[in-house]
Amino acid sequence: MLKVITFGPPNAGKGTQAQKLSERYGIPQIATGDLLREAVARQTPLGAEIKSYLDSGRLGPDDLIVQLISDRVSKSDCACGYILDGFPRTMGQAQELDKMTEVDVVLNIVVDMEELVGRAIGRRTCGQCAAVYHVSFNPPKAPGVCDRCGSGLIQRDDDRENTVRNRLRIYTEQTAPLLEHFRRKGNLVDIDGSKGIDGVFDQMVEAIENVRA
Ligand code: AP5
Repeated sequence: MLKVITFGPPNAGKGTQAQKLSERYGIPQIATGDLLREAVARQTPLGAEIKSYLDSGRLGPDDLIVQLISDRVSKSDCACGYILDGFPRTMGQAQELDKMTEVDVVLNIVVDMEELVGRAIGRRTCGQCAAVYHVSFNPPKAPGVCDRCGSGLIQRDDDRENTVRNRLRIYTEQTAPLLEHFRRKGNLVDIDGSKGIDGVFDQMVEAIENVRA
């Protein structure tokens, strides 16, 4: 059993690393942003409400997010653990998670804020399988085409510079304070996110192996 949180500001690389850890350890990546975008794509009334949060970069309501996560982690593919990518993001969510389970390690990706804006602007995402690329730092083999499933790559609406800066502000105000909560619990490990994707991954694997030893 292995339960991991990839934590950090928008565009720090949480999704990129969660995907790689999922492949390495054979446990699912559970990305709240992807779950919310799937709900929007289904075009339900709830999806329409969620879209307004995504477009502005504001956080969705805790009760909805906690319900999404609790439904997802109860599925059979989570029996050996999972990687939470983008959850929790508020103290309310963290308290609900504590009631639900204990996680083994919180991997906190530390990156300079200005670097994050550049990562956002160059990010491309697969509209089908949600794989993540960057036009310079992690380009697909064929421009605009997903290596994994062959579908077209898109630029997320919330990767416009103004929205990115708003998401960074919200992270600082509402999510960064959780670091103290994790530090008190003793399961937080800081990861130097300024390294390349493989360098960040190596640090994460080392941190996971340390907690499993
Ligand atoms: P979400 O989709 O989770 O967005 P986010 O947290 O803002 O994170 P991102 O997906 O933007 O970035 P990431 O850290 O995963 O970076 P990535 O690996 O893609 O959430 C979207 C919205 O949903 C939120 O704004 C909110 O409205 C809502 N929401 C989600 N969760 C919620 C919650 N719990 N509560 C309430 N609302 C919630 O990498 C970024 C780019 O950098 C890529 O192009 C990648 O190739 C590149 N890159 C990655 N690592 C490196 C590296 N080491 N060096 C160079 N480039 C790199």
